[in-house]
Amino acid sequence: MKEILLTGGLGYIGSHTAVETLNAGYKVIIADDLSNSKIEVLDKIKQITNKDVKFYQIDVCNKEELEKVFAENKIFGVIHFAGFKAVGESVKEPLKYYQNNVGSTLTLLETMKKYDCKNIVFSSSACVYSPVNQMPVKEDGNLEASNPYGRTKLFIEHILKDFQNANPDFDVTVLRYFNPIGAHESGLLGEDPNGIPNNLMPYICKVAVGELDHLNVFGNDYNTKDGTGVRDYIHVVDLAIGHVKALDKIVKADDCGFRIFNIGTGIGYSVLDVVETFNKSNGITIKYQITERRPGDIDSYFSSAKKAEEELGFKATRNLEEMCKSSYKYYSAKKR
Ligand code: NAD
Ligand code: UD1
Repeated sequence: MKEILLTGGLGYIGSHTAVETLNAGYKVIIADDLSNSKIEVLDKIKQITNKDVKFYQIDVCNKEELEKVFAENKIFGVIHFAGFKAVGESVKEPLKYYQNNVGSTLTLLETMKKYDCKNIVFSSSACVYSPVNQMPVKEDGNLEASNPYGRTKLFIEHILKDFQNANPDFDVTVLRYFNPIGAHESGLLGEDPNGIPNNLMPYICKVAVGELDHLNVFGNDYNTKDGTGVRDYIHVVDLAIGHVKALDKIVKADDCGFRIFNIGTGIGYSVLDVVETFNKSNGITIKYQITERRPGDIDSYFSSAKKAEEELGFKATRNLEEMCKSSYKYYSAKKR
């Protein structure tokens, strides 16, 4: 059984990926400092899969702590989720973002090299694409990040490329996620942001359970079918399966390289599409008001999902209704 280290594996995407990776027959080790997650998630992962998971509460930037993980296990590959992800906070505290996101990656790569672990899958983001690209955007689209968070992802991609160039026996897979939403069907895992959410689905869920009064729809004068912003929402369980496909590819491949894949559905939905689908699939009505545009937003982005389908055999199968239902199920369960 191959051992896979998930840095940040108790977070939203990491926890769902832990479940799918275990179900696919890999052994999972999680390293997380709990800076944005809760230890209870570990038990939920074990409960869903009925499998054991080794856990290290460590900061991945800390070389000594990370070395212990590699010294005590025979790690075949790493999925590197650990990092901070709040765009607004990254504008106010850029150094915190560069230190954690870039810093953890540098420490991880050095340690992997020292312990002869040669496979890494990295969590990048669609926000590395410049808004000038035509949609659907392909992996060779123009790159330009518009905030410090996005720049950490872009810089890390460059670092990984340089590293793989200098170490051709390393295998590097970069996954550019579009907009992950939804939750595990059990209702045990999901996204749990503190305070007032920045992102659409957690905000809608908080309105649905009565924690917030109404949704503010940021602008209805974009160049889209109903004037509201269009995004490529992907079910987090599909996204998790995308990671397993990337691991399977690494296991099977004879050669090493540097590969980049969009992980999306290829379909764009507007804010009002999401609200309408959420209402229909959950039998409730979300109150909303149209407000000003949010600075930095663009009208529309969605992926070309072809490369991942052709080269990884990955295709998202869960639709927007399932995304809305599972998100609400998780929030309602939390509320009780
Ligand atoms: P999350 O905050 O839920 O998970 C990140 C996890 O990493 C948390 O459990 C946190 O405690 C941990 N962590 C942070 N810094 C750490 C460190 N130095 N050492 C150890 N653990 C650390 O975020 P998520 O939504 O699951 O995102 C996972 C990754 O995917 C991140 O790198 C994020 O930037 C990227 N990503 C997320 C989205 C999204 O919409 N959620 C989109 C694109 C890319
Ligand atoms: C945001 C991040 C992006 C990150 C992505 C992860 C910003 C500017 N960008 O992108 O870097 O990779 O999350 O999923 O934060 N909306 C509302 N009302 C709300 C919240 C959102 O109308 O309360 C609209 C937005 O204007 C947008 C759509 O919903 O059109 C999706 O927004 P969001 O969930 O924040 O994702 P992104 O803006 O795509």
